[in-house]
Amino acid sequence: MREFDLVVIGAGPGGYETALEGAGTYGMRTVLIEKEALGGTCLNHGCIPTKTLLHSADMYRQMQQCSRFGLQAQTVTFDMGKIQDRKTEVLDSLRSGIALMMKQKKVEVLKGSGRILDPHTVQVNLTGGESRTLDTEYILIATGSKAAVPPIPGADLPGVVTSDELLEKRELFRHLLIIGGGVIGMEFASVYRSFGAQVTVLEALPRIIAGLDKELSQSLKMQMKKQGAVICTGASVKEIRSSANGELECVYSEKEELHVLQADGILICTGRRPYTEGLFDSRFTLETERGRIVTDQNGQTSVPGVYAIGDVTGGMMLAHAATAMGRNALAHMKGAAAPVSLDAVPACIYTDPEIASVGLSLEQAKEKGIHAESRKVVMSANGKTVLSGQERGFIKVVFEKETERVIGAQMMCARASDMISEFAMAIVYGFTLRQMYSVIRPHPTFSEAITDAVASVK
Ligand code: NAI
Repeated sequence: MREFDLVVIGAGPGGYETALEGAGTYGMRTVLIEKEALGGTCLNHGCIPTKTLLHSADMYRQMQQCSRFGLQAQTVTFDMGKIQDRKTEVLDSLRSGIALMMKQKKVEVLKGSGRILDPHTVQVNLTGGESRTLDTEYILIATGSKAAVPPIPGADLPGVVTSDELLEKRELFRHLLIIGGGVIGMEFASVYRSFGAQVTVLEALPRIIAGLDKELSQSLKMQMKKQGAVICTGASVKEIRSSANGELECVYSEKEELHVLQADGILICTGRRPYTEGLFDSRFTLETERGRIVTDQNGQTSVPGVYAIGDVTGGMMLAHAATAMGRNALAHMKGAAAPVSLDAVPACIYTDPEIASVGLSLEQAKEKGIHAESRKVVMSANGKTVLSGQERGFIKVVFEKETERVIGAQMMCARASDMISEFAMAIVYGFTLRQMYSVIRPHPTFSEAITDAVASVK
């Protein structure tokens, strides 16, 4: 019998949730290895700190607009240092929660770097300098991803940051220039505009958030412009250099013309790459493809008994996808069927208004040869939307024309990130528009608009 049933490397939402479930639900003797803080990118440098800042930014913006609601507040100001202190409190509280759960479920947590020697042996170089060798039945790799910084000359100048460093700043940049109009870029554009800083986004592709439905990206571009951000698409960054006045200069080409922009801060957010540095001993190999670990539908790598989940496997780099993949990997280790469907992974962007999407867009459905249609409702007739002063946005549902089976949804409206799960459930269970329509949604709520969107066309 081996010393452990499961060794998990990486304590992000993929790794720590799997460790908890392995020990708690399946009674596996489990070790969790993490070289930094518990919670991974999501809790320490990603979702949670960003959304904490976004929450303060939203409140600030709402307070400034409070006279619309018959309220008065004089001299509403903000203190970035205090906002950062609150963020730290939130993170500390969530990290201690995870540590407590580990204790309760009897997961042994080791602080250090894990290195796989063979399919049943992991060496841990502990932070204190010692090392430990673990003998285990299964290994689960959940080492996540790192920001991928493109080889732009000057990308290493002071003031050029990734989201990790920007999240720690106790003073705002006066003018933030964002390279990359993807998810991270648009969320930071939203935070910085809400706090009144100048924001310019340079996106190489013809549209921002290019992976999502065209209408979402066009609407977001319009909203961000209304909020005062400058968005340049088809903009290819050539160089960053220091300017004579101590600021940064970014040289980029747009429609074959060279432009130069000055800013005191530049955020590079051009995607993330799987992180496997130092993970494999020279005697151990498994199949990878352009840096990502290749797995089958159960999360098992090319080496039986060694599993990988989340960002390190490429694909959708989303915390909830990693957690779901971990649940399925555990079930596979135990010979059970996968408990979570990976067919419909919702993706959300926490801008104002929020964006959420699941399944196929109409464009994607047509590319796949599916005879599909979409229906759209705008939120301007929804009571809750009007009373809360958020009269923008829409809900779009994509369905197979013949069967009216729901195959996708895109939303841009208040609470989109909460409501998208209804469509995820519909896709997983193959609901039709009529089935979704048959459910009563309470009044007044944002979700009533879903009823309008799925009102059957037949
Ligand atoms: P992304 O892939 O969403 O966007 C990167 C953008 O940068 C792309 O539009 C790309 O065309 C552009 N780009 C690449 N090179 C460029 C260049 N040299 N000049 C100008 N533009 C360039 O990546 P992002 O925003 O860095 O996010 C990384 C990952 O983190 C994503 O997989 C995302 O899903 C995940 N994430 C999810 C969040 C959420 O669920 N709310 C929040 C933040 C990140």
